[in-house]
Amino acid sequence: MRRILNTALWASLAASATAATVDDCPGYTLSNLVQSQSSWTADLSLSGDACNVYGEDINDLKLLVEYQTDSRLHVKIYDAQEQVYQIPKSTLSPPTGQDGSSTSNSSDLVFSYTENPFSFAVQRRSNQETLFNSSGSNLIFESQYVRLRTSLPLDPFLYGLGEDSDSFVRETNNYTRTLWNIGIGMLPAHSNLYGSHPIYIEMRNGTAHGVFLFNSNGMDIKINQTEEDGQYLEYNTIGGVLDFYFLAGPSPADVSRQYAGVVGTPAQQSYWTYGFHQCKYGYQDVMMVADVVYNYSQAQIPLETMWTDIDYMDLRRTWTLDPQRFPLHKMQELVSYLHDHQQHYIVMVDPPVSLNDSDSYNKALSSDSFLRNSNGSIFVGTMWPGAVSYIDWYHPNAEAFWTGEIASFFDAKDGLDVDGIWIDMNDPQNFCDYPCQNPVQSAIDNDIPPAPPAVRTTWPPLPGFPADLQPPASDASENVVTPRSPYPRSISATSANVTGNMTGLAGRNLNTPPYALNNSIGPLYTGSIWPDLVGYGGYVSYDTHNIFASGMIAHTREGLLKRRPNERPFIITRSTFAGDGRKTGHWTGDNGSEWAQYLISIWQNMEFASIFQIPTVGADVCGFNLNTTEHLCARWAMLGAWYPFYRNHAGDTSNFQEFYRWPLVTEAAQKAIRTRFALIDYFYTAFTQQTVDGSPTTIIPLFYEYPNDVATYNISYQFFFGPSVLVSPVTVENSTSVELYLPEDIFYDYWTGQQVNGTGSTITLDNITYTDIPVHIRGGSVLPRRLNTDAVNTTTQLRDQDFEFVIAPDADGKATGNLFLDDGLSLDSESSTLSVSFDNGHLAVTGSFAYSVDVKVVSATVLGQGNGTSSYGESYSLNRTLNAAWSTDLYGH
Ligand code: GLC
Repeated sequence: MRRILNTALWASLAASATAATVDDCPGYTLSNLVQSQSSWTADLSLSGDACNVYGEDINDLKLLVEYQTDSRLHVKIYDAQEQVYQIPKSTLSPPTGQDGSSTSNSSDLVFSYTENPFSFAVQRRSNQETLFNSSGSNLIFESQYVRLRTSLPLDPFLYGLGEDSDSFVRETNNYTRTLWNIGIGMLPAHSNLYGSHPIYIEMRNGTAHGVFLFNSNGMDIKINQTEEDGQYLEYNTIGGVLDFYFLAGPSPADVSRQYAGVVGTPAQQSYWTYGFHQCKYGYQDVMMVADVVYNYSQAQIPLETMWTDIDYMDLRRTWTLDPQRFPLHKMQELVSYLHDHQQHYIVMVDPPVSLNDSDSYNKALSSDSFLRNSNGSIFVGTMWPGAVSYIDWYHPNAEAFWTGEIASFFDAKDGLDVDGIWIDMNDPQNFCDYPCQNPVQSAIDNDIPPAPPAVRTTWPPLPGFPADLQPPASDASENVVTPRSPYPRSISATSANVTGNMTGLAGRNLNTPPYALNNSIGPLYTGSIWPDLVGYGGYVSYDTHNIFASGMIAHTREGLLKRRPNERPFIITRSTFAGDGRKTGHWTGDNGSEWAQYLISIWQNMEFASIFQIPTVGADVCGFNLNTTEHLCARWAMLGAWYPFYRNHAGDTSNFQEFYRWPLVTEAAQKAIRTRFALIDYFYTAFTQQTVDGSPTTIIPLFYEYPNDVATYNISYQFFFGPSVLVSPVTVENSTSVELYLPEDIFYDYWTGQQVNGTGSTITLDNITYTDIPVHIRGGSVLPRRLNTDAVNTTTQLRDQDFEFVIAPDADGKATGNLFLDDGLSLDSESSTLSVSFDNGHLAVTGSFAYSVDVKVVSATVLGQGNGTSSYGESYSLNRTLNAAWSTDLYGH
């Protein structure tokens, strides 16, 4: 008998036949395990019928387990055919591998597995604690989706997995962190932001471990707790392989060092980069820039470095100068003026190349280093200058093209002798909405680039500045504007020249993958280049999107090194990926002039400096978007002085916010910068330590210093600036009180020298005016502090000032500190590393003294003595060298 099914039933059967869910996925079975002392390999094969939930299940995988060092376990699960994208290992530095001494018996971490369904666990050997355990759900490894889940203890303390503005300690329930780099303003919560750092650190009762997933594909990391599954963290990537590094700790600082062992240690920076920087989008000509420099000097606020945004470019095209507003000869005079005054100059460089810039465009074209559409034509989108094409940073010719542009544009003789480069929009951003069929028309329709501001014919005189920068005679010919078409020419598609090795995974839906990432701005192509763009070797942007910036950073560094071969290249980038701290610093992008954004910056700095190993970090002081206020800017001037990178920057539609514009902010900035000056050597010493071995010594969370004090695990708004200085900014808008937590330890108020005994509780400090910020020195430390900071305007002058040692004894009357001295500039500088120790009056300096200095230690101040002549501790005159060891007994016993 013929069975008749009604239409609704048919439809439901059809739906159930196709709509497999992740719960239907069969997992994998382990076989062919080959074990050696220090590494294991095995095959993993799909245990049942493919579920093909978000792409096609890959039948055959391989497992590699390497005991690389006793504190680092490498676990990699990848497709047997090796068709799935893997980030080239060469991007890791030092290239990771086994140190030869670690075995499965000696390692701090123990790997175990279950055969079928395959899962694995990582335990801490010393206490058998399970740190990672994937048995809660089946491994899924598909062409466009990889899922692995680990169970965790309830409400774990997890940090990392940025870049974001959500919170310092990760939320643990119904929380998703998406890693897919985007350009976005106002740093919205629960949004992916500019960078991707798939590393987390977890604190458990005093011990720490880290888990790094070396994968550049977009991913959702879900942290959740349910009755059925308990607490878990789940990786959902849209590609790539599972390339895990488990880092044993056991202290948080150990995890940071171990992470640096995988991704590399941060770049050393020049001493001058610690000075104060000023920038704004919207300085409309070079005279306005000079005017800001002049006003800073008039206001006696030390300005170290002046910056210029895209305003200097001709119609916003990279590698051009606006001939009317920023003519070369005036720019050169400004740069010479700054250099003559020991100040510095930095400009912005954006990644895409304008179609309207025939010179640069043709060079990139002939070097074949543009990203292409899947049909082989060169991709065209729009950015600041209108229609643009994007460099394929991983093309072998890209470095020569880019470093060539840097050389010809910035060459010290005929170009612009800048001291560093600011790179932006490298998330990367594209203004033309998908599918952007006519980028030229889109630029015209959206008024990109906008008409430049009118050329000014008058401006206030700039006493002391070169004649070229002074107000012109009214008939000056240079002020005649020649109209030009701002709009880009069209370009015809060029022929395909792309070879692919991705055949095994052809057929992926790259632009709208079946697993929809929780990208806060929409489908993956939103605001960016398309995921299906193809680069050298057939790699697609889908896989390399999150490392677009890394390539630009690397080539920019090479370009700077070619110009000044022995100088530490200074780069500040918006977008970053794991390991980029080796080459660059980072500013945290387009925040807003809002109290909440001031607060976010506090923990973002800790996260970048201590967890992501990008310690050259800072937020736009006083805020980028919106208009700041005198009070907010004063508070932010005080806070920013404790960022590694201290720059005031505002958006084009925001009011001017240079520190000298308000009396309160002027006063705050003077005090903040001079205090920072006093402690630059202390911080530079700490920073140097991090560049050597990855020790988190720059901007440090409290739990790093007091891992046994669980109360520190939730502290997001206090931090250590270097290992000995605790900064506790005002956290409530319009308030003049601070509630701050002091761990059980001895502290000294930085400003008064008063001893404060921390009891592991919160104290309240009142009367914190707009020119104050609570700062404490931790007992047990010696701070080398520069004297006479009121007398200097730049870090160059600062280096000629003598030191005092500020001694903050611990409960036993002891203290130690370090001082690193070098030329502050060159890559191969000689250096001295001084260890200072104090023990109940006995002060000794030992160390290595290869870099010799003229300055001396002229005094030592011992805090907490209370009965001396000075209210700020007891001061002892010294006149001691920093070029040799010495010791003395301050108390004259
Ligand atoms: C981006 C940058 C911002 C800059 C602007 C203009 O928004 O993040 O800092 O001012 O572009 O170049």
